[in-house]
Amino acid sequence: MSHRTTPARFTLDLAFGIGVVNPRLYGSFVEHLGRCVYTGLYEPGHPQADSEGLRQDVLELVRELGVTTVRYPGGNFVSGYRWEDSVGPRQERPVRLELAWKTTETNEFGLGEFMDFCAKTGMEPMMAVNLGTRGVEDALRLLEYSNHPGGTQLSDLRAAHGDKEPYRIRMWCLGNEMDGTWQIGHKTAEEYGRLAAETARAMKMIDPDLELVACGSSGTAIKTFAAWEATVLEATYDNVEHVSLHAYYEEIDGDRDSFLASAVDMEHYIESVVATCDHVRAKLKATKRINLSFDEWNVWYQQRPNPHPVEDWQQAPRLLEDVYTVTDAVVFGSMLIALLRHADRVTAASLAQLVNVIAPIMTEPGGPAWRQTTFFPFAQASAHGRGRVLRVDVDSPTYTTAKFGEVPLLHATAVIDDETGDVTVFAVNRSQTDALPLDIDLRGVDAHALVEHLVLADSDPEAVNTADRPDRVAPHPATGTTVTDGVLHAELEPLSWNMIRLTAEQG
Ligand code: AHR
Repeated sequence: MSHRTTPARFTLDLAFGIGVVNPRLYGSFVEHLGRCVYTGLYEPGHPQADSEGLRQDVLELVRELGVTTVRYPGGNFVSGYRWEDSVGPRQERPVRLELAWKTTETNEFGLGEFMDFCAKTGMEPMMAVNLGTRGVEDALRLLEYSNHPGGTQLSDLRAAHGDKEPYRIRMWCLGNEMDGTWQIGHKTAEEYGRLAAETARAMKMIDPDLELVACGSSGTAIKTFAAWEATVLEATYDNVEHVSLHAYYEEIDGDRDSFLASAVDMEHYIESVVATCDHVRAKLKATKRINLSFDEWNVWYQQRPNPHPVEDWQQAPRLLEDVYTVTDAVVFGSMLIALLRHADRVTAASLAQLVNVIAPIMTEPGGPAWRQTTFFPFAQASAHGRGRVLRVDVDSPTYTTAKFGEVPLLHATAVIDDETGDVTVFAVNRSQTDALPLDIDLRGVDAHALVEHLVLADSDPEAVNTADRPDRVAPHPATGTTVTDGVLHAELEPLSWNMIRLTAEQG
């Protein structure tokens, strides 16, 4: 550990921007997995359920979270997805084995219900097609059912099912994690590239304005990482707009210092995929750029046994119900910072997932809904991290990690609203033990008046929110933050996520 009391510093200047934040950066993900849908967002008979069975307490929290887009219906689930099972009269929908998570799918909640959920929360749907057990024809049928105005068998079927207006779904994922051997219908890069290219080409014959996401790797650890992206993009380049990235982090063997530096890996991942996209662009002599859809990211304790042991083929069992600590929320916030720092190329992202399954929102069947610790950084970033990301070159004391070597204690980004001149800084102090003094030179921006400095930190870094104590953890105002002669000074609490808002308005 070096120079613990030396302040971390950076300078803000509106002349040095990275890119405008695409609102789709604040997307999330709903998969038919565990209790995300059933007894999560959908629970007919719950005292808070509306006439369609959607829990209004959950809808309210989703709105408060500020989610802009929602990826659906998977995830691994999509590779066995039979969309036609999930539409039409509920009592006629088949009950099926769901192979990805070894559960039973009743199809009681389906495509129409999902679109209702999107409408009620104001979220843009981001639909995935099944390229595991299915292919081009099925993708076209789903697209016709969803988006064609009428006068064809499938668009008229949608109208007969009660949705006369087309869904107008613009973003579509071409399968999910097709590089993974766990995936139903797993493929080589060549096989997937060919299928994705043909599917994309045909979908664009129906609507050239669709935005399509080709599957990148399921993570950097997989052996085919980067070569997969290069092969797939060479095959699909003309007909896709995005390539996907997925990353989950967890604390392993008590190595908290490395865990706190997870975003170092995430930024390296983003930069590697950008390099691969641009390599293919050069090779193909293409003019357009492929952007990144980071459509699964979160903290996920994959190595921990499920505290709720479940039998195979149950309906909506308790799966992946991670309970997030303050430490997890700080790492999570740092991941948001990583996304924002690359807003020029990461133009869509989906927090995996939304309710109960590695989620910011938890529910009990027949009981309450509450916010996990990770809810707060997301809600704050979505509310205030809109506008143009400014370049933040941090000069910070460092600490030593086993996985990533020397890492800056400060991880930060800043977003400016170019209309008002207001600036919001998001910052994480990775030190487990010490407060970190921070000086921000505001010479290049007009925002010199402090609006608020909110912190998520706790004397107990293991503190969590639960059904019994849903408000145990929440952000609190920082003390002692000042702006003097155009320099902001703050003390960032140990192991903390911080949002500092500055306005250009004269008091
Ligand atoms: O989000 C949980 C799972 O993680 C998704 O179904 C899959 O795509 C990924 O491996």
